[in-house]
Amino acid sequence: MKLQTLSLAPDAAGLGKAAHILRSGGLVAFPTETVYGLGADATSDVAVAKIYAAKGRPRINPLIAHVESRAAAEAQGIFTREAAILAESFWPGPLTLVLPLAAGATICESARAGLPSVGLRVPAHRITQMLIAATGVPLAAPSANLSGRVSPVTAADVREDLGGAIDAIIDAGRAQVGLESTIISCLGPEPQLLRPGGIARAAIESVLGRPLAAYATEATPRAPGQLASHYAPRARLRLEARDLEEGEAGLDFGGRFGIAANILDLSPGADLNEAAANLFRYLRDLDRQHPQIIAVAPIPEIGLGEAINDRLRRAAVKDE
Ligand code: TXA
Ligand code: MG
Repeated sequence: MKLQTLSLAPDAAGLGKAAHILRSGGLVAFPTETVYGLGADATSDVAVAKIYAAKGRPRINPLIAHVESRAAAEAQGIFTREAAILAESFWPGPLTLVLPLAAGATICESARAGLPSVGLRVPAHRITQMLIAATGVPLAAPSANLSGRVSPVTAADVREDLGGAIDAIIDAGRAQVGLESTIISCLGPEPQLLRPGGIARAAIESVLGRPLAAYATEATPRAPGQLASHYAPRARLRLEARDLEEGEAGLDFGGRFGIAANILDLSPGADLNEAAANLFRYLRDLDRQHPQIIAVAPIPEIGLGEAINDRLRRAAVKDE
């Protein structure tokens, strides 16, 4: 069924309307500091089912529940010692903790894809926090894109993928971090990196005082979300490109390819935080020029570079 997707302002009236839709079991896309999320009441199987349907997302892929505070997270998940250190250091912020489900947790089974664990995040964005508070329940939210496609960093990106399929979008400008949260599992004896993201590995290892176990590769998926083809633009990506070939568009880093209409530089000054913030937007922008191939300059595997390279490698996989 085609819906009239409302555009809501990030003010009291807009948030009030959004909270009402969410409490009635509807879908609202909202901004966070990482990317835009597609939200539903995380305690309602009926509401959460609509997320999977709108995105075309496999139901075996669990969702992150966004909560207002550490205390709200403690009602849903069991905090190990390491989880407590990580929450203390990085919440609110772009960190998701996968924890054993607490007794009395209210996150519904479909949000967890039936798992006895839960992915929890306290977002740092003021509007997200106000929305969760106004709604009064945890919000399940994957990135607000069609499954397998590039994550949205503006309300316009969300509308491009999901306009007509969801009830409303809160427009609060561009997401600052530009990459999804770092996901750490605290289920086993030692914390494991399930997905690199907005908080760099080194920052996490520094507060834990030890290295993190390597994150799952495609050969050994640990998070059901570690599917091969993801973040896929229509064009093919040629990674680690030293120069640009005839007919290619270029996703540059550090001014290697020069200046032209078919080249976007993630960060001319080679700043990885800036590159992360521009990544998904530039992938979308270049894809709109309909090139066959997007050549991507090498990105160093340090800081947010690990997460950037992770997304680029997934975007380079084509499964047709
Ligand atoms: O920054 C973000 O994380 C954004 C914003 C909206 O918060 N959300 C996001 O959600 O990226 P999504 O659905 O695109 O990615 C969530 C990932 C999935 O790969 C899923 O497998 C993993 O979190 N996840 C969630 N709960 C889990 C669980 N109980 N066990 C293992 N993995 C889990
Ligand atoms: Mg996603």
